[in-house]
Amino acid sequence: MAAVCTRSFLGRVLPPLPAAMLRRYSLDVSAPLLRTQAYVGGRWVSAASVFPVLDPATGQELARVSDCGPAEAKQAVEAAHRAGRSWSRDTAKERSVLLRRWFDLMIQHKDDLARLITFECGKPLRESLGEVLYSASFLEWFSEEARRTYGDIVPSPAKDRKIFLLKQPVGVASIITPWNFPSAMITRKVGAALAAGCTVVVKPAEDTPLSALALAELAQQAGIPPGVFNVVPCSREKTPSVGQVLCCDPLVAKISFTGSTATGKVLLKLAADTVKRVSMELGGHAPFIVFDSADVDRAVAGAMASKFRNSGQTCVCSNRFLVQSGVYDRFMEKLGGAMDAELRIGHGSEPQTTQGPLINSRAADKVVHQISDAVSRGATVLKGGRRLEGSYMEPTLLADVTTDMLCTREESFGPLLPVIRFNTEEEALAIANSSNVGLAGYVFTQDVSQIWRVTEALEVGIVGVNEGLLSTAEATFGGVKQSGLGREGSKYGIEEYQEVKYMCLGGLQV
Ligand code: SIN
Repeated sequence: MAAVCTRSFLGRVLPPLPAAMLRRYSLDVSAPLLRTQAYVGGRWVSAASVFPVLDPATGQELARVSDCGPAEAKQAVEAAHRAGRSWSRDTAKERSVLLRRWFDLMIQHKDDLARLITFECGKPLRESLGEVLYSASFLEWFSEEARRTYGDIVPSPAKDRKIFLLKQPVGVASIITPWNFPSAMITRKVGAALAAGCTVVVKPAEDTPLSALALAELAQQAGIPPGVFNVVPCSREKTPSVGQVLCCDPLVAKISFTGSTATGKVLLKLAADTVKRVSMELGGHAPFIVFDSADVDRAVAGAMASKFRNSGQTCVCSNRFLVQSGVYDRFMEKLGGAMDAELRIGHGSEPQTTQGPLINSRAADKVVHQISDAVSRGATVLKGGRRLEGSYMEPTLLADVTTDMLCTREESFGPLLPVIRFNTEEEALAIANSSNVGLAGYVFTQDVSQIWRVTEALEVGIVGVNEGLLSTAEATFGGVKQSGLGREGSKYGIEEYQEVKYMCLGGLQV
């Protein structure tokens, strides 16, 4: 990357990256985990062409990966369908043992898996390691849940009949995953699917196929039977035709997608033709509300964690900060201090880095556009505000924010922290619920009655009370409104991959 100033914001020339960030970084992951072919029916297969995977921090090419098309997608669906015949009949304990082995292998290779994440999505290494553990935890959790998917025996209204409600796997699941959690968004779905007795075809995001292929390598080592777990990477150009197969093929019973609301709506339409089951984990626009009674230090720590994790690129990142007048000044001062003290921009593999690049320059452009829109409508930039070379973005704190600004109306997916001052609980709730999406919401208050009132009133699927980091395998993940359909993780996650069959056993002589 050349050290020249390329962009301007509000008439100012933006600085180049510091020299230390311009050096070359080497992925340095050992061969068996650095896979570049598709994984179909238990075999590594090449496609007719390849596409490059780039380090978003430097633009350096990391690998060339098989660019699958509809033919490979169809083969994968057929392989999954064939494998499903025996996988669905294996005992829950057999499936559990294999998922557990897969988990153990992820832990054994956690450092290499973390490097893959850092290099293909830009996440700081410490966070990538956190993602690997989080990702593995879904295999562990669902290896345990596999053995507890009880059906029901229901008291019958007739003496000569018994009523059984049986849980059965839905069949082949298409798993379409995003770049911001290249590993965990796969295992959160696949752990549940495999535990239920389903087989899967994974289409990882075009930016981050390496983590998905490394998971396939470990699945093979764990002894997951051929065809149970398939991965078909493809480029942005091939995505529509591969998506068409994965969403429309009659052999596919279920689609699980994590990504934008706009893409989710396209997939829902595709799924409608063959009436497939769907789970959708879509966009968020999380409110982060700090009331006068809040422990301000705790609120600041929560804001730092929920906003700047993965440089603001998570669906549950706080996007709109609402701070009550009585604590506003204190909160802003302490938050600014924490941003100065804790945030360091750099390549994800540097130990001091807390803020990697955004995934691409379009992502940085969007944040810059939101900042200039806000400033043009009266917001004040208290920290940051500038884009650096490449797709690096300074963590930015905006004050004097109002609800007509773009940043309070759409997801930023970047390190932008806009703060609105409010006076009453009703006002805060009205702003928080004014969005057409509702994934996560955060509330900071020491008032127990307010905790209940606000938690119940918030139109979201996940509420953090005095907490900024919530995600865990044991709890549900999912939203309301246009944030999606269904829940992942927890004891409920597995139900997304099961049908309930009613069996009536009649003619009994009693
Ligand atoms: C996401 O951004 O979609 C996932 C975030 C998480 O699991 O915490």
